[in-house]
Amino acid sequence: MVAPSLRIAHLASEMAPLVKVGGLADVVGALAFEQARRGHHVIVALPRYLTLALPEGWSRRALEPRQVPWGMGREPARYELLEAPDRDLGVLLVDHAGERRFFARAGVYDDPATGEGFPDSAERFLFFTRAALEGLKQIGERFDILHGHDHQAAWAPCFVRTHDAHEPAFRGVVTVLTIHNLGYQGMHDPWVLGLAGFGLEHFYPGSPFEYWGRVNDMKVGLLFADALTTVSPRYASEIQSSPEFGAGLEGVLKRRSADLTGILNGIDDTVWNPATDPHLAARYDRDHLEQKAVNRAALRVACRWPVTPDWPIVGMVSRIAEQKGFDLIEEAAARLMKMELRLVVLGSGKPEYVEMLRCLAAAHPERVSYRDGYDDPLAHRIEGGADLFLMPSRYEPCGLNQMYSMRYGTVPVVRAVGGLADTVEEFDARTGAGTGFRFDRFDSAEMLGALRRALAFHRQAEQWRKLQQNGMSRDFSWRASADGYDRVYQRAIERVRGGRVPTLESVRSRV
Ligand code: ADP
Ligand code: GLC
Repeated sequence: MVAPSLRIAHLASEMAPLVKVGGLADVVGALAFEQARRGHHVIVALPRYLTLALPEGWSRRALEPRQVPWGMGREPARYELLEAPDRDLGVLLVDHAGERRFFARAGVYDDPATGEGFPDSAERFLFFTRAALEGLKQIGERFDILHGHDHQAAWAPCFVRTHDAHEPAFRGVVTVLTIHNLGYQGMHDPWVLGLAGFGLEHFYPGSPFEYWGRVNDMKVGLLFADALTTVSPRYASEIQSSPEFGAGLEGVLKRRSADLTGILNGIDDTVWNPATDPHLAARYDRDHLEQKAVNRAALRVACRWPVTPDWPIVGMVSRIAEQKGFDLIEEAAARLMKMELRLVVLGSGKPEYVEMLRCLAAAHPERVSYRDGYDDPLAHRIEGGADLFLMPSRYEPCGLNQMYSMRYGTVPVVRAVGGLADTVEEFDARTGAGTGFRFDRFDSAEMLGALRRALAFHRQAEQWRKLQQNGMSRDFSWRASADGYDRVYQRAIERVRGGRVPTLESVRSRV
């Protein structure tokens, strides 16, 4: 699709390769690069965390500091604009120069000292959003698209229709909010509304700013944005149809159904490519799968497992959170430990699950290896060395690791929800079609059933190779996804420029 070139500003709390906690970073980074590659002019506003991997060779310049409206007063913000040498891509780093230093501390969302979310999260991201808009105004351009990601940036569509409604930089702008995860909504006590510049007269049942007696960032964004997207078609329909997936916002989402589109994430196939991956012990592709055995042996050594018995290796790389289905691992642990497989898990997060994994590895060192921490090279080596990749998620907006796995000839075993259902097809031995194994209910017996089916095929070398090659032949690159965003932008531009600009009054009727 050839789309006219647009001036796009993204607001996000993560962006690879600068800062990453989960898939949000990969997606924001890859989308921004792909949009710039296809001729759009792209700026990503990002908090200036203490630890940022600043890209080499980019130009850097400070912008004027600003006093950002903040409740009854103002708070100081500092900015730096980084610009890529080879494409029309910039990163606007937004810093808080006030006393409480919202970003100049270790940790992105959680305090590493306690493992808990920072107590001032509400203020940190509200400030980021308001300050990012102030920074964008300074760049001296008029933006066509303001694209926020998740609840951390969800106030942006509201601010440009209220406080900044007459701002030249945002004249005619179209706002888009992408839901990467509805399990995190940003819910706060009502006083936060004052910081956002709205009096308590706006806080009443049925107001866009009220949600069961609290302020809900995501709800504000869902009501104000001109277009909503989420990261897979299946999740787009799940979140409208049940509280299990809509997490309380299913009603709002259903009312905005006509403006909500599911666009499957792509993967960065230059970073996740087994033929060029510098982290692997041996590189391979679809026609040289025998090299995968070298990576498998290296992973076995890293996990300190014996050569025999030579059981299949199941990998997991994940945030250790309730979303990711670790309850099923816990429930199935005794039965899992009787199966002929080995399990390697990389991830950190919720202490209860971390402890469970530690105990499992301590009790069965010859079968289970657990690494607590964030380790990108090891994530690549697990993808390269494992035979199977397990994702038993409770819900999964998209999920990236099942796509990385298919690319690496590592067969995914997934719960058929959200993006997992949209990307993994059950293998059918009769037709030779399919890329993995799926189970429907959130149930440990079903998960074990899917693993057993997978192990049965693993013993049949020819079938297994077919399964691996099927996955490796899929195209999960960003091109199709970026086309999807171009279409959403164009549709929303036609609507908004056709006169349908929302106001605080008209948004009330969307509640
Ligand atoms: P989510 O965004 O819900 O965490 P995704 O599957 O979309 O899930 O993306 C997770 C991303 O984070 C993947 O790129 C995965 O490899 C990476 N990741 C998660 N935990 C770790 C870890 N401990 N070490 C390295 N990479 C990790
Ligand atoms: C979220 C989701 C994950 C998705 C990622 C990127 O963190 O949990 O499923 O792939 O965002 O969109």
